[in-house]
Amino acid sequence: MALAAMLAISSFFLFSAHAASSDDFLPCLSRAIPEQLLFTRSSPSFASVLASSVRNPRFLTPATVRPLCIVTPANASHVQAAVVCGRRHGVRLRVRSGGHDYEGLSYRSVRAEEPFAVVDLAGFRSVRVNRRAATVWVDSGATLGELYYAIAKVSGRLAFPAGMCPTVGVGGHLSGGGFGMLLRKHGLATDHVMDATLVDAKGRILDRNAMGRDVFWAIRGGGVGGSFGIVLSWQVKLVAVPPTVTVFTVERSVEQGAVDILAKWQEVAPALPDDLLVRAVVHGQVVSFQSLYLGTCDALLPVMRSRFPVLGLNRTHCNEMTWVQSVAYIYLGADATVEDILNRTAAEDAVFTKATSDYVRQAIAREVWAEIFTGWLAKPDAGLMILEPYGGKIAALPESATPFPHRSGVLYNIQYMNFWEAAGEGASQMAWVRDVYAFMEPHVTKNPRAAYGNYRDLDLGINVVAGGNITSYETGRKWGEKYYKGNFKRLAMAKAEIDPDDYFRNEQSIPPLGMCLVEGINNYGMESFRLCRWDDH
Ligand SMILES: Cc1cc2nc3c(=O)[nH]c(=O)nc-3n(C[C@H](O)[C@H](O)[C@H](O)COP(=O)(O)OP(=O)(O)OC[C@H]3O[C@@H](n4cnc5c(N)ncnc54)[C@H](O)[C@@H]3O)c2cc1C
Ligand SMILES: *[C@@H]1O[C@H](CO)[C@@H](O)[C@H](O)[C@H]1NC(C)=O
Ligand SMILES: *[C@@H]1O[C@H](CO)[C@@H](O)[C@H](O)[C@H]1NC(C)=O
Ligand SMILES: *[C@@H]1O[C@H](CO)[C@@H](O)[C@H](O)[C@H]1NC(C)=O
Ligand SMILES: *[C@@H]1O[C@H](CO)[C@@H](O)[C@H](O)[C@H]1NC(C)=O
Repeated sequence: MALAAMLAISSFFLFSAHAASSDDFLPCLSRAIPEQLLFTRSSPSFASVLASSVRNPRFLTPATVRPLCIVTPANASHVQAAVVCGRRHGVRLRVRSGGHDYEGLSYRSVRAEEPFAVVDLAGFRSVRVNRRAATVWVDSGATLGELYYAIAKVSGRLAFPAGMCPTVGVGGHLSGGGFGMLLRKHGLATDHVMDATLVDAKGRILDRNAMGRDVFWAIRGGGVGGSFGIVLSWQVKLVAVPPTVTVFTVERSVEQGAVDILAKWQEVAPALPDDLLVRAVVHGQVVSFQSLYLGTCDALLPVMRSRFPVLGLNRTHCNEMTWVQSVAYIYLGADATVEDILNRTAAEDAVFTKATSDYVRQAIAREVWAEIFTGWLAKPDAGLMILEPYGGKIAALPESATPFPHRSGVLYNIQYMNFWEAAGEGASQMAWVRDVYAFMEPHVTKNPRAAYGNYRDLDLGINVVAGGNITSYETGRKWGEKYYKGNFKRLAMAKAEIDPDDYFRNEQSIPPLGMCLVEGINNYGMESFRLCRWDDH
């Protein structure tokens, strides 16, 4: 048993002394936050504010556990006040940026017994681009589309490597990793974070230096669930893109050889030049190979002819455009304009979904793919499988560089997803996702089976609150090691450093790992401080 030499002292509010009922929470908020930024359950617009960024109507039913109130901060002091009042009066907070959480954890709770409020950052969304330094300060409530648009306005040669869907919020996305069409050339969104401002459980605003190395490491990919605090803003480094990029989609049905082509794709796509990403969307009896190439069609064609001739790419498939046009084109279609990426409402917001994910390190046998097509994908309520190739820059960092561990050796990520259109439906679609996931077990990454934290799935495990009013680390490992592998432990230690009382928590937040003892009263006689020591084995 090796005992780590990690010691940390932290002062904290003596909130237990004030531990009144949550009835005092709203008056506390009202003293610090203007009335028009507060929505209680009795406010006429409560329902519409709550629904405003819900991206999955599964979590907008009468049975959904709703917040006591919603705060829509206009500045940082409102966020600080929400934390201080919540802490003092026993109300937890859930933070919502873009509302895309697959399990709705930014605005709903699975458990009815613990009251909570939502801090909705949708209005907290300025984007400040520094062209000369090629950096941006972006607030958490901005969408990826707003970020991409602001960058492109300033320069056609700069870009940011993050997700494909323009309505995804920066807050949740950067705190969980974030990947899209530039992932092979530039890695994850969170790999490009240079600084951030975090409101911690004491209501302090901390930048990179003030939060310390461990916490700054943790929020860049391990912040799933707002475990460490509320990130107000992020400073990110931009990447260079050429003036012209090329987009193509080639569809192949099973009759046209899709099974063989897909089997081949597994080895080809992760090893292509980094300038080229070819993803595969498997739906029904068809595979759509969707691609972004950082260059012209003339430069792309010889690469495809030599590396992936079986796809039969020719000039008629090429669509040349700017990078920001490719964002609109790939996600919203050939008719979309660049302005459309600013639209915070998406057509798919009304669609009910269920999803989960896996990683693949060894190509899946052709016969298994054949079985997936004839079995799973031919079912009446079948969903789809989205395969994102890795390799390139995403694989270049060591597993411990950020909390996101799925790097070297990963061939691709699989996302299983299903959809339905009305409340009350969905049983067979959800069963399809769960059954395919069970079927895939022998063919995907094991020990632990891996998953992407930003594709949150509560089927992977739900936290249990153990003794001391603190989330159990041992129980958390069940889901936590799927998302984070060995990094889960370091995340739990960072959590104990910044939020030892486990104020920020939800069904899949990082549990604190460490023994903290209340040791005394500080110089001012106002706050006690804590001594924490971690058992490192
Ligand atoms: C339609 C759709 C498309 C997607 N496409 C991609 C993709 O291309 N690539 C990809 O990598 N992922 C993708 N995702 C997944 C997406 O990255 C995650 O769902 C992400 O967490 C969403 O962030 P958000 O701010 O919109 O969500 P929210 O629901 O607002 O937040 C998600 C989680 O982060 C916490 N959180 C939010 N803001 C903060 C904050 N400021 N500080 C601390 N914690 C916070 C929330 O409490 C919640 O637990 C997609 C999701 C959807 C629904
Ligand atoms: C934030 O808003 C409040 C009003 O609610 C105002 O008093 C305060 O000065 C503002 N703070 C900043 C930093 O702008
Ligand atoms: C657990 O902590 C919350 C706030 O952090 C507090 O309101 C609640 O009373 C605590 N519960 C118990 C059982 O101590
Ligand atoms: C290019 O590919 C398309 C679609 O596969 C095909 O119809 C067309 O004949 C091809 N053109 C050439 C010049 O090979
Ligand atoms: C935003 O997108 C939605 C869904 O596609 C559409 O109904 C709406 O008209 C769009 N809004 C604007 C301003 O384009």
